Amino acid sequence: MRELTVALGERSYPILIGSGLLAKPDLIVSRLPSPQVMIVTNTTVAPLFLDRLKQGLDQRAVKVAEVILPDGEAHKNQETLALIYDALLANRCDRTTTVIALGGGVVGDMAGYAAATYQRGIPFIQIPTTLLSQVDSSVGGKTGINHPRGKNMIGAFWQPQLVLADTETLTTLPPRELSAGMAEVIKYGLIRDLPFLEWIEANIGRLMACDAEALSEAIERSCANKAEVVAGDERETAKVGGRALLNLGHTFGHAIEAGLGYGQWLHGEAVAAGTVMAAELSRRLGWLSQADVDRIRTLFAAAKLPVVGPALGTEKYLDLMGHDKKVLAGKLRLVLLKGLGKAVTWGDTGKDDIFAAIDACCKAA
Ligand code: NAD
Ligand code: GLY
Repeated sequence: MRELTVALGERSYPILIGSGLLAKPDLIVSRLPSPQVMIVTNTTVAPLFLDRLKQGLDQRAVKVAEVILPDGEAHKNQETLALIYDALLANRCDRTTTVIALGGGVVGDMAGYAAATYQRGIPFIQIPTTLLSQVDSSVGGKTGINHPRGKNMIGAFWQPQLVLADTETLTTLPPRELSAGMAEVIKYGLIRDLPFLEWIEANIGRLMACDAEALSEAIERSCANKAEVVAGDERETAKVGGRALLNLGHTFGHAIEAGLGYGQWLHGEAVAAGTVMAAELSRRLGWLSQADVDRIRTLFAAAKLPVVGPALGTEKYLDLMGHDKKVLAGKLRLVLLKGLGKAVTWGDTGKDDIFAAIDACCKAA
């Protein structure tokens, strides 16, 4: 088992990574303030892993309740959130009850937000079961739901007590979801870790073939990068750089997701095409070479991710990008690359350059 720490003073917590961790309930029980948990999962994940988790906790005399949510980003909303509050109240859960999120990022974000707000905040454990959630969403304490007018617009920072990433759960993951998670793995290499980027390039075949050792290594190095960034800027308040760098490709990507309608492209797919746009814009600013941009395209393509964006029209892209949470005082802030492994936040990009970069990376209309 690999272990990392997210160092946040009294809110510090471990990330445990390994195969078969779901069958080791002591890892969880030792961190519960009282022997009562509410497992939040969904209709896809419950038949795969819920019994395994429940059995172990039952054997340790933990009182287990569960709530099984409908699956999908479309359900990451107030209505589904209310199902979690209903279950917490129906089971007389108190401030010592621990919410356990068992599932991908959608379940993790919603369960975390329920934990952040129920009785003004109760303990919370993340058991992520997708690659994306194991390398990104389960770490760092961003929780929330979507609003019809914007993704993740309602939420709270609420750190978990523990992140338990059982790599065995990834064996049931659909290949498209594995690729989507790989976009976030590649992101860490691009923004701050060139040796990791080179390692991913050398091991992309093993990763795509779900080689357990390669996946564990990728998850550990991704989480180590995320933990460092979060420890330095927990609430994304840094004026330059900081946690916002984790959003490389995301401003363009959110425009793709919103422009096509949520659910058409997976988040990681949109991030891949969005990162190519950010790289192309960085090249136009003289910060990346054409060879660097080609290298990024080649790696995403090897991870079976799109490298060309949909033809939404440049005006529409820019309009949708204006709704991004990184917009401050009406000013668009982008994450760009000053070199491979070196991301920056940048608020001074001209509209013409942004248009040209989008045009160069989109399907012809
Ligand atoms: P997801 O939670 O929708 O999971 C993808 C699909 O895989 C779902 O159908 C899910 O039920 C299924 N699934 C989960 N585990 C499985 C398994 N082991 N085997 C088979 N199927 C499985 O999507 P995701 O990519 O995990 O997360 C995306 C969400 O995460 C988005 O809502 C995004 O906004 C959020 N996110 C949050 C953060 C953060 O910091 N909080 C960071 C990145 C993304
Ligand atoms: N996924 C971006 C962040 O956690 O800040």
